[in-house]
Amino acid sequence: MTCFGCRDKTARFPPRSRGVKRPVKRQRSLAVQSVGIIGAGIMGSGIAQTVASKGMDVILTDVSLENAEKGKAGIAKSLAKLVAKEKIIQADADALLARITPAADYSAMSACDLIIEAATEREDIKHKIFEAAGKVLGAGAIMASNTSSIPITRMAASSPDAARFCGLHFFNPVPLMGLVEVIPGLATSQDTIDRMKAFGEKLGKTVVLAGDEPGFVVNRILCPMLNEAIFVLGAGIGSVEDIDAGCKIGLNHPMGPLTLADFVGLDTLLEIMKVFHSTTGDPKYRPAPLLQKYVEAGWYGRKSGKGFYDYSGETPVPSR
Ligand code: 3HC
Repeated sequence: MTCFGCRDKTARFPPRSRGVKRPVKRQRSLAVQSVGIIGAGIMGSGIAQTVASKGMDVILTDVSLENAEKGKAGIAKSLAKLVAKEKIIQADADALLARITPAADYSAMSACDLIIEAATEREDIKHKIFEAAGKVLGAGAIMASNTSSIPITRMAASSPDAARFCGLHFFNPVPLMGLVEVIPGLATSQDTIDRMKAFGEKLGKTVVLAGDEPGFVVNRILCPMLNEAIFVLGAGIGSVEDIDAGCKIGLNHPMGPLTLADFVGLDTLLEIMKVFHSTTGDPKYRPAPLLQKYVEAGWYGRKSGKGFYDYSGETPVPSR
């Protein structure tokens, strides 16, 4: 009998009778040890670096082996900077890199405990990925999407088991940002939620649980603000520099909204605003015309070398 408040701790449990075996509780291994990451762009590479920095193995894929290798080369470059700054030692950088294996296809992910999709923010592309990667997903493994805005429940339909499908939303730059949103879909099991929370914490991040609604918590607030800054620019209310200085200094944000929009990627921001607009039908989410124009011009922000700023010189300057 349990003896609450009893001083003698041994009295809390009945004595074990000799010869009577207690049923052995099978402890399932819940901890994620190996992760497949689909998409070796800014987010996928950042997730790969962070996961490998915590001692887990990573299989990294993209549309081609060459792209996956490019992603790994980018991680090597950012680690080299940290070594030069004496933030980490060379041996640790080498060990981290050795844990990341670029792959040509998803077959090597069959042994992964978790597959994270971090591909382009286009729903048709993501559905195709979940169908293809779902064919190799291990029996107890989880499939997660780093989508910024696409409904999890809708994407789960293309995965082999909606109970083991979840949103896992990271922030750019992943190695530096301390947050992960865990977004359960309608059918996501409690076990999947618990394992994803534990995984986020293992990465050293704070985990926020968000509802499966457009933009979840953070992007639902951030993206309309970035879009509004572009409306403000388009209406001639402020210059690129003044809008950024105004918010950076006036609101004490680390980056002004136009710098941040360039950082997130204008194509990504446009896709997010389109999802908000189409799923809610609310005109307050319509993409700013100037955002549309910049994307049509191929000015995607920092990743293409030009957005609201031109990044070709030593310091970024407004592009117009
Ligand atoms: N890995 C590990 N550490 C790194 C690193 C990397 N890849 N890159 C840089 N670091 C380290 C640096 O060595 C440096 O360390 P130190 O301070 O000890 O010297 C530290 O991180 C900071 O580096 P920087 O000096 O280059 O960076 P800043 O101090 O200028 O800060 C920033 C950069 C963190 C990006 C800051 O400007 C910031 O917080 N900006 C806002 C970012 C933001 O809002 N992101 C969210 C975007 S929304 C999103 O992602 C969601 C999506 O769905 C749209």
